[in-house]
Amino acid sequence: MSEARRIKIFDTTLRDGEQSPGASMNLAEKVEIAQALVDLQVDILEAGFPIASPGDFEAVREIAGQIRGVTVCGLARCNTADIDRAWEALKCAESPRIHVFLATSAIHREFKLKMTQAEIIERAVAGVRHAVAHCDDVEFSPEDAARTERDFLAQVVEAAIQAGATTINIPDTVGYAVPKQLGETVAFLMNKVPNIDRAALSIHCHNDLGLAVANSLAAVENGARQVECTVNGIGERAGNCSLEELVMALKTRSDYYHADTRVNTRRLVPTSRLVSNITGLQVQRNKAIVGRNAFAHEAGIHQDGLLKERTTYEIMRPEDVGFAKTDLVLGKHSGRAALADRARAMGYRLTGEQLQTVFEQFKLLADKKKEVYDGDIAVLIEQEIRAVPHEEWALVSFHVTSSTASPPRVRLTLARGGQEFVEESSMGDGPIDAAFWATEKITGVKTVCKDFRVRSATIGHDAQGEATLEIEHEGETYRGRGVSTDTVEATIKALLNAINRIVFSKKPRD
Ligand code: KIV
Ligand code: ZN
Repeated sequence: MSEARRIKIFDTTLRDGEQSPGASMNLAEKVEIAQALVDLQVDILEAGFPIASPGDFEAVREIAGQIRGVTVCGLARCNTADIDRAWEALKCAESPRIHVFLATSAIHREFKLKMTQAEIIERAVAGVRHAVAHCDDVEFSPEDAARTERDFLAQVVEAAIQAGATTINIPDTVGYAVPKQLGETVAFLMNKVPNIDRAALSIHCHNDLGLAVANSLAAVENGARQVECTVNGIGERAGNCSLEELVMALKTRSDYYHADTRVNTRRLVPTSRLVSNITGLQVQRNKAIVGRNAFAHEAGIHQDGLLKERTTYEIMRPEDVGFAKTDLVLGKHSGRAALADRARAMGYRLTGEQLQTVFEQFKLLADKKKEVYDGDIAVLIEQEIRAVPHEEWALVSFHVTSSTASPPRVRLTLARGGQEFVEESSMGDGPIDAAFWATEKITGVKTVCKDFRVRSATIGHDAQGEATLEIEHEGETYRGRGVSTDTVEATIKALLNAINRIVFSKKPRD
């Protein structure tokens, strides 16, 4: 059997992924994700688009300066200002890459750029040359390549390689391609571009028709050596090719693709959880590979088959993608070592201090709940590691009454700096709305709720409820999360968490 081809994974969670509506991240969160991507063993991480904003520039510069063991890439349009700015942010990286893009399709040429084919080639060559003057590792993307005339695309690709591009990325920018056709485009470029052996061909697919992974695999089959993707498939509109699906398709069907990646697949679930927690973009339950139901077998026939022989109904092992081997139950007699062990198995690295706080919370929970599951532990840990640096407001107590016959009533007590504040109100449409009113009244922080969800972290009538919300305050979006076995309490905590972020963001820094 021929040796497996090594496919490079280019992760763009921090650039294209961040373009998902509502997914913007702060600097510390981006650095945390970048480190997780290194642990996952991706080959290249695209840290941002430096000229897009000072925040993007800072994030790329910080990641380039701090993160080791991966190529750090920054995006630039095909002009000197963009490319210089990208280089300024990237130059401290251990292994920097400049990614230059320019649209090539007839639609973009005519309506967006108002440029002829010859002008496009000239601009692409000038851009790549300028990037090469800074850095040996230059990627060029003909934006909307999948809708570009193939002969013209081949000319642009040849000219970009001639100018020094070492990677040529083929984007399906609008998610229009279908697998056979995109595979043929890649095969066409592999055959028709005379200098194609001097660059690595890459693929970048969007998911508008739900085909991003299938299209990327078709490109790999036809010679692509790099795939661009995002954790949980997040990204502009319907998102990008999902990293975990692509990686596991190559691994599970290596008999067919004869290709593999460097990715440590056991880090897939922890990385997925991290990205979901930071961006607030929840992973659907039935999402392939990392969804909570991805390995849950409901049908009796399936369960029976599994017990007889796992492979009857399971093509991958849950532990190979990072789900803990068993959803082993912990209880009030479990010690700190057992909790630490479970946290490690779930992919968390806690400091001694964090472990101590989580352990104290765990003991309180174990008193209320007989059985503590992985999902419970995950929410306790997330609550601790994502705490706001300074908790201005804290919940002391609440009392709500709600019925079909009368408006809801709430009595809420909050504390700030050792002082207690009480509000009683009968505003709102229900207990949650009433709790929102009272919280805003006490804190004096006006917010508009943009998204609000409550989910059960585990199973059973005593399961913990996790409330997550997104609120707007003075044009900025803030996220909050709260956990409790009582959903109203979880909601108040989530709102206070978001309000504490608002207060913290306004405090003067050193
Ligand atoms: O989708 C796209 O075309 C892009 C390019 C910048 C590579 O994201
Ligand atoms: Zn894209």
